[in-house]
Amino acid sequence: IRHLLSVNDLDRDTATAVLDTATRMADTAGREVKKLPTLRGRTVVNLFYEDSTRTRISFEAAAKRLSADVINFSAKGSSVSKGESLKDTALTLQAMGADAVVIRHSASGAPHRLAGWIDGTVINAGDGTHEHPTQALLDAYSMRARLGRIAGLKVAIVGDVLHSRVARSNVHLLHTLGAHVTLVAPPTLLPVGVDAWPADVSFDLDAVLPASDVVMMLRVQRERMTDSYFPSEREYARRYGLDAVRARALPDHAIVMHPGPMNRGMEIAPEVADSARSTIVEQVANGVSVRMAVLYLMLGGLA
Ligand code: CP
Repeated sequence: IRHLLSVNDLDRDTATAVLDTATRMADTAGREVKKLPTLRGRTVVNLFYEDSTRTRISFEAAAKRLSADVINFSAKGSSVSKGESLKDTALTLQAMGADAVVIRHSASGAPHRLAGWIDGTVINAGDGTHEHPTQALLDAYSMRARLGRIAGLKVAIVGDVLHSRVARSNVHLLHTLGAHVTLVAPPTLLPVGVDAWPADVSFDLDAVLPASDVVMMLRVQRERMTDSYFPSEREYARRYGLDAVRARALPDHAIVMHPGPMNRGMEIAPEVADSARSTIVEQVANGVSVRMAVLYLMLGGLA
């Protein structure tokens, strides 16, 4: 595939190939040879119009481990503040030799627009409330690493689904890979049209937990909300937060995930986030291997 804009760009075989390649990348990282020469002479641009810690740094680490040159562009401090458009910014970066542009933008659809303007590969690193495909890939990788499979897993995705590009990408990728997803959220934090997603919907977290293999807590994105449709933080935590008492209802083998950054004490209690069930730190480490695999397959011309 030329671009990775949506998880819908990935069929089951291609997604599995990314996960298998990521496993090989993780094996490489554990050995003495920490750098692969595959992308020597290629340039990866990280074009970030929205803040990021995990995604930006892991794409940078992934590209460097593959020996690519990396240019980090942050809208803050750039000529974007003088009114330069996304298109002109992208063409400027292309003129500097970008082979791939990894873009995060607050506008849903920005990566699609970019793909129409530049010659190189475009990878969506999160666009508005739309999609975050590499997050879904690293989440699937993390599930497979802990539980040995993805097909047949029962996955609960809990919280602010309305604003979550992570939820949207996970629902569709997990469906492609044969898992069964239940979305758990207050009615005000579900998007219009969720009935058409390949997932069940529940308003009752306590009813869903005992049958879940995976519970993925979502960050409450207060910055994208008005207070009119958000309950109080205490009320939200009481009904939809994963605390230690609630986590005891999970089967013994079940894992707890969160894409980060977390609101500790709201959607997830600290003792759950730091428990043996939690994969939150593993998800970050796995993100480097998965992004290495994406860059390797896309820029190496092997996918
Ligand atoms: N999970 C995630 O996308 O985190 P960042 O916003 O820190 O990149």
